[in-house]
Amino acid sequence: MNRPLPTPIAIDGPAASGKSTLGMELAERFGYAFLDTGLMYRAVTLAAVRAGIPAEDKAARRFVRTLDMRVEATTTTRIFLGNEDVTGRLRDPEVEANVSLYSALPSIRDAMVRKQRDIAAEGFAVLAGRDIGTVVLPDAPLKFYLEASEESRAERRSRQASGEWGQAQRDADARKDIALRDSIDSTRKVAPLRPAADAIIIDTTRLTLDQVLDLALEKVACASD
Ligand code: CDP
Repeated sequence: MNRPLPTPIAIDGPAASGKSTLGMELAERFGYAFLDTGLMYRAVTLAAVRAGIPAEDKAARRFVRTLDMRVEATTTTRIFLGNEDVTGRLRDPEVEANVSLYSALPSIRDAMVRKQRDIAAEGFAVLAGRDIGTVVLPDAPLKFYLEASEESRAERRSRQASGEWGQAQRDADARKDIALRDSIDSTRKVAPLRPAADAIIIDTTRLTLDQVLDLALEKVACASD
């Protein structure tokens, strides 16, 4: 019997584990919307840093109520603060350094999770993040949890970046950043990073993008058989 395609699809995992790449590939292939929830937390962080809001729940609660953030989820995700498309700013160093602090605050998570569920309810959707399978969409029919060694994630991330420093320095910087964010993300009280009990875990350390995609496509096919 042929079931319809599974929706929503949840993809979680630590920093630079390949969630967005897989999410965008699946979205493109099946015509789903792709919501990269990390970009939402990054955009709130950018807005809060710009407004001088401390990473503290009471101040953040007032701040998110007035936040004018628009999310566009097609086969990629774009984020607007007011009329400004901030998507290209979301990997700036001040965002990178602060995002795990702001995203640990319950008031910020409440507001983001509400928006994420609304978007997922609009139609076929793939959502990537840290808590999609556990908190945002616990009933999602298909959940992936991607992991990879810290070293390989740092290498991948620093290859995406370019700058005035050499490759070795970029690797070291990426590794430090990733280790710090992973530690804050997995030890926070609210929605810590961990696989859902029913998630399919894929270790991508020794896999190419095509191999990860093939594995995921197999699972999509099984879910719709
Ligand atoms: O792209 P990368 O994997 O490095 O990170 P990201 O997915 O853009 O997420 C940036 C940060 O947002 C994470 O380190 C978490 O602190 C936070 N985040 C979260 O708390 N919950 C989510 N669902 C997604 C991201």
